[in-house]
Amino acid sequence: MARAKKHLHILHSQQFDRVWLEKKFFPEAKRMERAVKLGKELNFLKNKSICLLFYEPSTRTRLSFQQAALKLGAKVVATENAKEFSSAIKGETMLDTIRVLNALKFDAVIIRSDYEGASDEAASVAKMPVLNAGDGRGQHPTQSLLDLYTIYKQFGKIDGLRVVMVGDLLNGRTVRSLCYLLSKFKRVHLDLVAPGALQMRQDLLDYLKSKNVEFAKHSSLDQVAPMADVIYMTRAQKERMDKGVKVSGKGVVMTRAILSSMKKKAVVMHPLPRSNDFGELLEEFTDDPHVIIFDQVESGLYTRMALLKMALS
Ligand code: NCD
Repeated sequence: MARAKKHLHILHSQQFDRVWLEKKFFPEAKRMERAVKLGKELNFLKNKSICLLFYEPSTRTRLSFQQAALKLGAKVVATENAKEFSSAIKGETMLDTIRVLNALKFDAVIIRSDYEGASDEAASVAKMPVLNAGDGRGQHPTQSLLDLYTIYKQFGKIDGLRVVMVGDLLNGRTVRSLCYLLSKFKRVHLDLVAPGALQMRQDLLDYLKSKNVEFAKHSSLDQVAPMADVIYMTRAQKERMDKGVKVSGKGVVMTRAILSSMKKKAVVMHPLPRSNDFGELLEEFTDDPHVIIFDQVESGLYTRMALLKMALS
């Protein structure tokens, strides 16, 4: 993890290296998983207080960070609609908000913001670890770590996997962060399936090239699904699109036929929420054996416990 001003910030997926992922992160997440399943009481973060600053809506990320902190014995203070209910509405900058948290002696801050680079700004003045819980169209590194841990548990490895990213790849931050993480491994092949206007941004494609990651762009899922190990579905990020833009789910929705074309061990993932704009993963597929979307949520708890413990104790 990157160390800035002695603090362990989690800002972008590129900051992690393979050794840290395999030797530190996976084992720590596994330890947390075991402890929770055995019902052990953990006190690694006793007397620590964590602030959640959420300027954008969230269910999973916020609740899973809160639950992770509580399970480690920390105290949590949260402002869940910071855009409206914090001084941001009066024009306070992120820098000043973080200076306030410094003065109030928080031990860590977890930030979800609606603009790219918000967590970096925060980290530039924070006297505590900053954890990026999503910054606009930028990144969502803790989501990608929980996705990686989920994939690792399923396959016992990451090298050589074929991962299909599907949906709004232009505006989705989870797919960006996951691409960065997967590029740390060998012979990973990425298939990027998006409606024409919503393909992955060039900066990320350039990054994949620079890391010699094999990738291909597509406009339809059905051709690539039979080869996939992981199909990672995402919703249309309507709130990041210009008003009036019509989104079509053509080519980027899961169907019964696609599910039955998949390899036996292959999985369907989704960071959630799923939505009706594409209708990418309908309710009726929830219990299909390939679909592991709520296992992801559970892995998120262990992942965030591991990250908070490593960043704070
Ligand atoms: C994602 C996010 O907020 O980026 N959700 C999440 O954190 N699990 C995905 C999304 O909003 O579509």
